[in-house]
Amino acid sequence: MAPDFPSSRREFLAASSLALGMTGFDGPRRPDAERLAIDGGPKAVAGPAPRLVRWGGPERDQLDAMLGQNSLFYWKGPRTGLFLERFRKVCPLPHAMSCSSGTAALHISVAAAGIGPGDEVITSSITDIGTVIGVLYQQAVPVFADLGRNTYNLDPADVERRITPRTKAIIAVHLAGNPCDMDALRTIADRHKLVLIEDCAQAWGSRRGDRPIGTEGDVACYSLQNSKQVTCGDGGVVASADPGIGPRLQPFGDKGMDRMKGGGLFEHFATNYRMSEPQAAVAAAQMERVEAIAKSRARLGSILNEELADVPGVEPPAIRPEDRCSYWFYMMRVRPEALRCDRAEFVKALAAEGAPAAAGYIPVPLYGNPVFQNHGFFAGSWPVKEMGLTEMDYSQVSLPETEAILKTCFRLMIHEAMDEPHVRAIAGAVRKVARHYAA
Ligand SMILES: Cc1ncc(COP(=O)(O)O)c(C=O)c1O
Repeated sequence: MAPDFPSSRREFLAASSLALGMTGFDGPRRPDAERLAIDGGPKAVAGPAPRLVRWGGPERDQLDAMLGQNSLFYWKGPRTGLFLERFRKVCPLPHAMSCSSGTAALHISVAAAGIGPGDEVITSSITDIGTVIGVLYQQAVPVFADLGRNTYNLDPADVERRITPRTKAIIAVHLAGNPCDMDALRTIADRHKLVLIEDCAQAWGSRRGDRPIGTEGDVACYSLQNSKQVTCGDGGVVASADPGIGPRLQPFGDKGMDRMKGGGLFEHFATNYRMSEPQAAVAAAQMERVEAIAKSRARLGSILNEELADVPGVEPPAIRPEDRCSYWFYMMRVRPEALRCDRAEFVKALAAEGAPAAAGYIPVPLYGNPVFQNHGFFAGSWPVKEMGLTEMDYSQVSLPETEAILKTCFRLMIHEAMDEPHVRAIAGAVRKVARHYAA
């Protein structure tokens, strides 16, 4: 019979420690609790996560009231009115337009800000493509800046380096709910007369110091897509206190017609990004949940930060203690040079421990996607490049920290219904796996 050789170093170590256990060797053997679950040890996270219930009575009541209406159209719609009134309690900005998605909110924001052909908009490339779809549809040019090692947000110094006479705006993406360095970005935007747009799609309920997220830029954009902290399936909202941009949000989400003015004329060229009353009904109810959801996620995330502060081989995210991060997910990094395994093996071991872990985030930075590499945005071509309005070549873009983040990051999925013991157990899983693989 062929000998039964273990196929990997990990299996070899596991097999040999079991064998040593059987022969009664009492040298430096790992106690059972230290043995990885992937090697047959006990799981660090023993029980299932508490169940998350995302909607209930309040949403049902709003939907019921909505079905009693004669119209489901947004303009002067009671659910839309209520949604926007409640949204303003979350993000107190005087002009707000409900819309069909976060992508729509971002497109409305750049269009209303007057971004047009050849204008450059500096942003992050670790984000959803919805951050830049509107920029490209305006025939403007996304310019990607590098990110902070542990914030995963725009590095203000790199943003400033990329400013040219064509730069018109910055889109600050608060990744996973972690507020960007808005002081620095605000200063840069003011110095260069740029519009500062906040992509708050992942940041419902986050705060910078005591300021609600979205209130330091010129325009705030939110997503209500299904995976977000609050949702109506698909939806979005865009808001502003700027007297120039604010009144343009409604027409730029509604085919270019200003319904406040009346008269039925199309003053701008814009598409239909309206949200209807059924979505607004659910969104209105969800607004009442934002504060509790954000508070709970922030508390659970800070427990992870505290528990994982000094674990060798991994780096927790950098969140300013005075800010509130609403942790759409908890993203951290492995330090491959300090571990005897790669990220895939590390995350596999974590998952076996019962931790809700996933390796990586998006597969490549936005500029690494085929549509950017091929400049194939409009029927396979890119008019602004062909017309000489930009020299941008995405195949030449390389951002070292951005690329390193995506190669080394992993995510722990946390949600507001989790309790402290469960989250401490998840942290325990990270510590156990990191200790096991420490170089
Ligand atoms: C940071 C960010 N920006 C924009 C979007 C686009 O939002 P939506 O999917 O609602 O269009 C998302 C959604 O995933 C996002 O995470």
